[in-house]
Amino acid sequence: ASLRALNTFHVQASAERLLELHAAAALPDALALHEVAGGPLLVLGSGSNVLLADDVAGTVLVFTDRAIDILEHRADHAVVRAGAGVGWHALVTWSLQHGLSGLENLALIPGTAGAAPIQNIGAYGAQVGEFIQTVEAWDRHEADWVRLDNEQCGFAYRDSVFKQQPDRYLIAAIELRLPLLHDLRMEYAGITEELQAQGVELPSAVDVANAVIAIRRRKLPDPDVLGNAGSFFKNPVIAQEQVDVLLQSFPDLPVYPAERDDQRKLSAAWMIEHCGWKGFREGDAGVAPTHALVLVNHGNATGAELLALARRISASVLETFAVAIEPEPRLIGAQW
Ligand code: FAD
Ligand code: EPU
Repeated sequence: ASLRALNTFHVQASAERLLELHAAAALPDALALHEVAGGPLLVLGSGSNVLLADDVAGTVLVFTDRAIDILEHRADHAVVRAGAGVGWHALVTWSLQHGLSGLENLALIPGTAGAAPIQNIGAYGAQVGEFIQTVEAWDRHEADWVRLDNEQCGFAYRDSVFKQQPDRYLIAAIELRLPLLHDLRMEYAGITEELQAQGVELPSAVDVANAVIAIRRRKLPDPDVLGNAGSFFKNPVIAQEQVDVLLQSFPDLPVYPAERDDQRKLSAAWMIEHCGWKGFREGDAGVAPTHALVLVNHGNATGAELLALARRISASVLETFAVAIEPEPRLIGAQW
């Protein structure tokens, strides 16, 4: 089966089998059959955070359960369950239409609900881990269904137990606890300016979502038009002392707080742009002209070509700043 439509870089790769699973309850039987057939198993949502550097020598499993249910509705919050196949942005829109807030800053992130916990998707000052109450998954180590609570998910910046132990948990559904009212987050650069430009005076959660959507549309290429996987590199987190040294040579270097007090997060986009890569193109592999952190496929680039470009970019950042940057998407068929 061709995976070209199943990855937002739109690179050509194939899998031996494609297995679409509508009902998670059928998973154990489907796995038993697969294990008899042998070969590796790769779960994909919509392929917006993978780089396929090679063909998949086994089965690609896709959950297509798109059910959204309210499990609990209280005066101040609701608990919502989404099947793994629910589109992430569709879930954000649904929650806002039902008067629930929390997800507004995460509007327009591509992908599925089932993949959201994997790298703890985040944008504009919010991360999904703040709202996840339970992840329902098939644990391939235990060969049983498990319910992981928020703490067991080990959420951190672009990280979780699911990213640390790839292929162990097959996520069938997520349960989110969403407030009916909460403090809107508008500190992230550009949100208040965007609301002002739109003439919004007393913003609602829907207004914040619309502001985020407008900003994202300006900066991030639409994968349907220009293949990409969003940020190709994570923003590096490094020791405060190293940042102080760097600031002496690069006083404009953007520096953000990190989870630990003695560390800081740097802007990978700024460093890549400083090295001259923004808008670069060689063959069909390139860097978006609107955002230096986004690698793009202008048409027929292969996963290997995109990976080679990523290696050149990271080498030049290492040489200039002595900072190692690492890919955010999962590499399939290659090691970083
Ligand atoms: P896939 O790419 O299909 O899979 C990603 C990983 O999750 C793989 O390792 C896969 O094996 C695993 N996986 C997927 N589904 C399951 C499942 N049900 N069970 C177990 N494992 C699973 N990310 C952000 O955090 N913030 C952003 O602002 C953001 N912006 C983006 C903008 C663009 C234009 C693009 C293209 C991507 C962006 N991303 C962003 C990255 C991407 O949208 C997210 O990582 C998203 O959660 C990936 O979802 P997916 O369904 O496409 O997962
Ligand atoms: N910048 C540049 N050049 C550029 C783009 C950005 O110098 O071409 C600098 C600017 O100083 C800008 C700063 O980088 O102020 C931050 O840029 P931006 O707000 O676009 O955020 P980012 O750090 O590049 C991160 C996430 C995005 C997320 C945005 C918004 C990571 C790896 N990326 O990008 O997530 O949407 O913040 O919160 O953390 C993704 O993960 O795929 C993704 C798109």
